[in-house]
Amino acid sequence: MTQMEAIRDRHSVRRYKDTPITDDLIMALNQEIEQINKESGLHIQLVLNEPKAFDTKFAHYGRFEGVTNYFAMVGPKGADLKESCGYYGERLVIKAQQLGLHTCWVGLHYKTVPDAFTVNKGEKLALVITVGYGKTRGGRRKSKTAEQVSNVTEASPHWFRQGVEAALLAPTAVNQQQFMFTLHEDGTVSARSKIGPMANIDLGIVKYHFEVGAGTENFAWK
Ligand SMILES: Cc1cc2nc3c(=O)[nH]c(=O)nc-3n(C[C@H](O)[C@H](O)[C@H](O)COP(=O)(O)O)c2cc1C
Repeated sequence: MTQMEAIRDRHSVRRYKDTPITDDLIMALNQEIEQINKESGLHIQLVLNEPKAFDTKFAHYGRFEGVTNYFAMVGPKGADLKESCGYYGERLVIKAQQLGLHTCWVGLHYKTVPDAFTVNKGEKLALVITVGYGKTRGGRRKSKTAEQVSNVTEASPHWFRQGVEAALLAPTAVNQQQFMFTLHEDGTVSARSKIGPMANIDLGIVKYHFEVGAGTENFAWK
């Protein structure tokens, strides 16, 4: 499965089977995490067989069920943490989808279980992403149009529209899709997200999707 196919297949999945993730998939996920942590300076960890974070009334109220595995999105405190977690977390989400697993970003409906992962001095947990074999594959939801979230026109290069379409398939907090891509005259692209507690996480996520859709060889970020 290509990354673009995985982007089209992906939906948030909140209910999971109790099947443990196989050893070869755990190894593949950990390899990807190691690579990402090296590139980004983040301290992402795969937490396995830990049922407490989602065994609360609040998590059940959020329709989560059977969650025992998640990525703890930990990294150095600072202005870049949220966008970086969004960007690299979504790379992991797409990788998990390619491996036949399902995911859901979670900013709200979890409880922090401190001894389940490591947060070093100067680091912080930004949020978590559930992972496992879904009871469902999730489903389609409402989406804005490319014209609502970018300055795309019929005259725009094909790659720009492809990038925006890929961004529209990205997960965003409460499906708000509060982002805007602008293609400038010099061929560079800028991306912005409206203000909000999850806005910079969403921004990192949609930028990752845009790069996959548009092809990084076709443009540079402004
Ligand atoms: C940063 C972020 C935080 C999220 N937090 C939650 C959450 O706390 N609870 C929840 O049920 N879904 C959460 N979601 C999932 C979104 O509701 C979901 O991505 C959105 O509705 C779009 O649906 P889709 O992912 O199936 O495309 C979050 C998504 C993002 C990107």
